[in-house]
Amino acid sequence: MKIFLDTADLSEIRRAADAGLIDGVTTNPSLMAKSAGDADPKDHFLEICNTVDGPVSAEVVALEKDQMVSEGKRLAALHSNIVVKLPLTEDGLRACRALTAEGVKTNVTLCFSASQALLAAKAGATYVSPFVGRLDDISHHGMEVIGQIRQVYDNYGLETEILAASIRHPIHMVESMLQGADCGTLPPKVLYQLIQHPLTDKGLAAFMADWKKLGKEL
Ligand code: E4P
Repeated sequence: MKIFLDTADLSEIRRAADAGLIDGVTTNPSLMAKSAGDADPKDHFLEICNTVDGPVSAEVVALEKDQMVSEGKRLAALHSNIVVKLPLTEDGLRACRALTAEGVKTNVTLCFSASQALLAAKAGATYVSPFVGRLDDISHHGMEVIGQIRQVYDNYGLETEILAASIRHPIHMVESMLQGADCGTLPPKVLYQLIQHPLTDKGLAAFMADWKKLGKEL
């Protein structure tokens, strides 16, 4: 399963990429607004691409198909790692189809149902991003949607990758893996929570204490 970091914060991306923990990055307009500062957003996307060796999702902000396609082409021209992120609207699906026909990689976002995911795949999306946490927020089972999309894609041989998004805690990540998501995107806090286990800390402390008794160096 591919792990993407869900942030536009360059220091977080650098840390995770240096540690070899991530396969790519996803951003959205809210994350960019938080981290891009005064920089031209295109320069910020480029810097992310130069920091991580993998797909970098950059979202269009136009709402109309032709404008989405123009923005998407400008984003895709920045770097070969750019994946153009498009909202799951009729215009977004039309733009996805047009950009796919030109060889641009796409990520159809704000997906909340298997029926929406079917349409994203039929539009040629490289990735579809079902938002697990935001479904949980409104008392729906976000994880069930991941399983349904997996089954639909497998039933019909659809190759769009399922990118579990809006992941809020490690259990979301584990369940996404079990439901067969191809990728998960998670905020930095959750990425480092994946490493943590109290028994690892306890075991390491005991090993260190025992080694100290030996009084030797390696
Ligand atoms: C990623 O593509 C999404 O934009 C992101 O995961 C949304 O997460 P949130 O629901 O925690 O904002």
